[in-house]
Amino acid sequence: MGNVFVLDHPLIQHKLTYIRKTDTGTKEFRELVDEVSGLMAFEITRDLPLQETTIETPVTTTKAKVLSGKKIGLVPILRAGLGMVDGVLRHIPAARVGHVGLYRDPETLTPVEYYIKLPSDINERELIVIDPMLATGGSATDAIASLKKRGATNIKLMCLIAAPEGVELIKKEHPDVDIYLAALDEKLNEKGYIVPGLGDAGDRLFGTK
Ligand code: URA
Repeated sequence: MGNVFVLDHPLIQHKLTYIRKTDTGTKEFRELVDEVSGLMAFEITRDLPLQETTIETPVTTTKAKVLSGKKIGLVPILRAGLGMVDGVLRHIPAARVGHVGLYRDPETLTPVEYYIKLPSDINERELIVIDPMLATGGSATDAIASLKKRGATNIKLMCLIAAPEGVELIKKEHPDVDIYLAALDEKLNEKGYIVPGLGDAGDRLFGTK
């Protein structure tokens, strides 16, 4: 069963407060999202396997641990997911990066992938799907379904802020997926924004309106 982890580390919570504030401008918003993403990467990679190796220090020969080489893939959902990629890559620079862009056809409600490009070996990778705002959960649910359809079996979801509705949908549709959040907010409003949230993450990251 997938778990929900709210990463309430003081550094994450402090930076998230400034991310939320209306008067935080684009440059600072982008930098803070990058920093929080990097901090979140520590917890998300906590279960990466290690192996022992023998090294020479200037003093002696000793056994020490290195990552065992588990393959990771980051999959940001376009476009706001892009803002969290570099912060994670700083800590796991060998990760490959795929991209998914999709929307729901307003009439049929079926997901339409307008862009998808993934590493060829996604079935061998631990994938971290990245989307700052888990609102209704529709995009993340559809993106995860796309990855599973293409052979992915090991998926985590990383978001800055979630609404309870989004978390519930992921738990229902993808109970195998662990969810990592910086905050679980109160609710969605009638326009589909997370409350209290931070507004439109894509617009605030890219300075659009
Ligand atoms: N997407 C956003 O960018 N913000 C929200 O509050 C909800 C969805």
